[in-house]
Parts: sequence; structure tokens; C-alpha cells
Amino acid sequence: MIEFPKDFFWGAATSAYQVEGGNSNSDWWEWEAKVGLSEPSGQACRHYEFYKQDFDLAKLLNHNAHRLSVEWSRIEPKASMFSEKELAHYREVIISLKQRNIEPIVTLHHFANPAWFVKSGGWQSSKAKDYFLRYVEKVTEALCDKVSYWVTINEPLVYAYYGYIEGAWPPQKKSFFKARQVTLNMAASHIRAYRLIHAIYKKRNLSAPFVSIASHLQAFIPCSPGLRNRLAVYLRNRFFNFELIDRLVKGKTLDFIGVNYYTRSLVDVEKWGLRNLALEVCSKNHHPLRKNSLGWDIYPQGIYTLLLKLRKYKLPVFVLENGISTPDDELRWDFIRQHLKNIHRAMAEGVKVLGYIYWSLIDNFEWDKGFGPRFGLIEVDYRNFERKIRESARRFAEVCKSGTLD
Ligand code: BGC
Repeated sequence: MIEFPKDFFWGAATSAYQVEGGNSNSDWWEWEAKVGLSEPSGQACRHYEFYKQDFDLAKLLNHNAHRLSVEWSRIEPKASMFSEKELAHYREVIISLKQRNIEPIVTLHHFANPAWFVKSGGWQSSKAKDYFLRYVEKVTEALCDKVSYWVTINEPLVYAYYGYIEGAWPPQKKSFFKARQVTLNMAASHIRAYRLIHAIYKKRNLSAPFVSIASHLQAFIPCSPGLRNRLAVYLRNRFFNFELIDRLVKGKTLDFIGVNYYTRSLVDVEKWGLRNLALEVCSKNHHPLRKNSLGWDIYPQGIYTLLLKLRKYKLPVFVLENGISTPDDELRWDFIRQHLKNIHRAMAEGVKVLGYIYWSLIDNFEWDKGFGPRFGLIEVDYRNFERKIRESARRFAEVCKSGTLD
């Protein structure tokens, strides 16, 4: 049996755009209509109305923490027009969690943007920082007395990759240069947001908050040990996994390291060239493993290796997302169990981990993939929006309650 610390955070995550429904002022909403996405977000899970019921379920499942995001396009539907009604809504959401003794972890930006922001240049533009800061200030002022854990931006590199390199997400650009601009603007925005959030707490005499970003980390594994593959792994670790964390740690703007971990990526580079070194993935099914329904390898030891690599920063780590999309709920429980074991192994070797947040509390809108992938601990029937607790959720609930795992 393994035992986690008594004060460990246990819970699950959602993001506003993926669960709320009706986010019609967002860039994603416009994009879904423009490309005719076969499963647009629409009403999503109607979590905007049903959040209390969803939090009752989280409580029933013994969660003591919940990660959620607030939707910028609701709070600021037009440039510099802030909605007091929506700020009050999110205050109610946070209060509902606190009433259930569930610690809120609030993300300020989780992929979706207000449509006006994108029209004025989006994250590529040098104005992005000022716009984002203005919004961060409003939200922090409205919620600071209720929130201790903040995530400024979710997965800047994933956002830049899908929106500006692969082009699968809005604004569907394909340019390394633009992706770099976006990442640098997001990093600079985090730094300023970090300082602003801390300053607001200080001004209000509140205890210092814990502020971070959520970094998506992948285990990059070379298929064979040749020079090209090793160099590619080095570059991907450097630029995709650790550059941003390095920069933010050096600038003293992370109170903990937020980690999202899902899978490994096999690296098999056939030709020299920057694009190949940076992006080429193995197409030959070397070293096959079981996969989730999106085809991602299930690779629990990756989280162990990555956590050990974070040890040198001497900061606590918070696992803010880890999850699997699958119709096979036994596989889901096995996925959670194996990842928890690997996290515990890293903890035994000196990595301080604050908590484990599963992605996701409920099935939801998986961006360009629509509603097919099922990541939830709780199943959503999209015909009537009924929720049904999965067996894996009950197994996980036992761990949340006892803090132990067999
Ligand atoms: C994102 C989520 C997404 C999940 C599964 C994470 O990288 O933060 O929004 O649903 O991956 O793809």
C-alpha cells in the first residue's frame, strides 16, 4: 500500500468553454461556425446552469480540490466592457465550491479568447499583454478573497502549436515565427499577471496566493539511439517542455509548477532539417503500447521521469491535468492507478507534489474533436444532460478519501 500526504489535494478539472455551453462571444464559437465543425460546442454540458449539481457530485466523490476556468469572453464580451453579472456568476461558482470544502484552482485563460481580442491581433500582437492584464485585474479584484490558487494561462505551447504551427485550431496559422511570438507574449503576460495578482493580495492584506501556469509536458522517447533522434529529443525537451518553466523560475514568477501530463511522443527523425527535428513523429508504430481513444500512448512512467526532471527547480509541483479518453472504464481506473503510483515514486525520491487533478470531472467538448472523446469521471448524456458516475470515479473516490492506494 502507498500513502500520500494528509494535506494532498485530490480532485478533477474542467475548463469553461468545454463545459459551460453558449459561449457565443468567443473566437472558438465563431470558428466552429466558420468551418462548420460537425460537433460544435453549442450547449456543451450546460455546466453554466448545472455547476452546483456537478460540484455536489465532486463532493460525493471526496474531492477536496477542483480546477476550473473563468471565461474571458463572458467577462469582457466587448473590448473594455466588463460584465458585472458574469463576475458575480463566477463569484457564486467559487463560493459554491468553498461551501463544499473544495479548494478552487482558477485558470484565467484556457485556450478560448474573446472574439474582439482575436480581431485586434490576438496573442501575436504586442497589445495582447495589456488586454490580458486589464482582464486579470478585474477577475482578481472580484475573486481574491475567495481564491488562493491561480493558473494564469493553460498550456501556452499547446495553444501556440495547434493554433499557429499545425493550424488545427483557430486562428489556423502555420508559422514558426508567429508561434514564437505567441509563446513569448504569453510568457510576458504571465510574468506581469503574476506580479499583478500578488500586488492585489498585498494591497488587500490577504495572505499571498499561489500563482503558476499549467505546462503540458510530454515524455519524448527516441525510437532508436541515433544522433538525429537524440538531438530531436533534446530540442523538444528544451523548447516544448522546459524553456518556459526555466524562464519563469528564473524570473521568480512561479509559486509552484503546474503540470499537465497525458502521454509520450515517439521520436523517429528520418531526415535532417529543423522542421523534422522539431516536429517529425514516428509513423512506424515502433514499441507499441495501449492507446486512448484518440490514439495517444498510455505511458505512466513518463510522469515519473518528468517529475524527476523538475526536482532541480526546488518548487512544489501540482499535477493539474492527467486523464484518458476511453469507452473502457476499467482502463480509465488502471490509467489513474498507474499514474498515481508513478507520482508517488517521484515523491519518494524527493519531488514535492501538492496534489493530483484528473482531467476531467465530466465528459466535455474536446475542442476540434467534438464530443466523441470521453475523458470524464462522470458520464454526460448529451441528449438530456444527465450525469452518471462511472465506476472509475468511485475507485478514485476511495483514494481521495483514504489518501492511500493498493
Ligand atoms: C487541455 C484540455 C483538453 C485535454 C485533452 C489538455 O491539454 O488542457 O483542454 O481537453 O488536454 O485533450
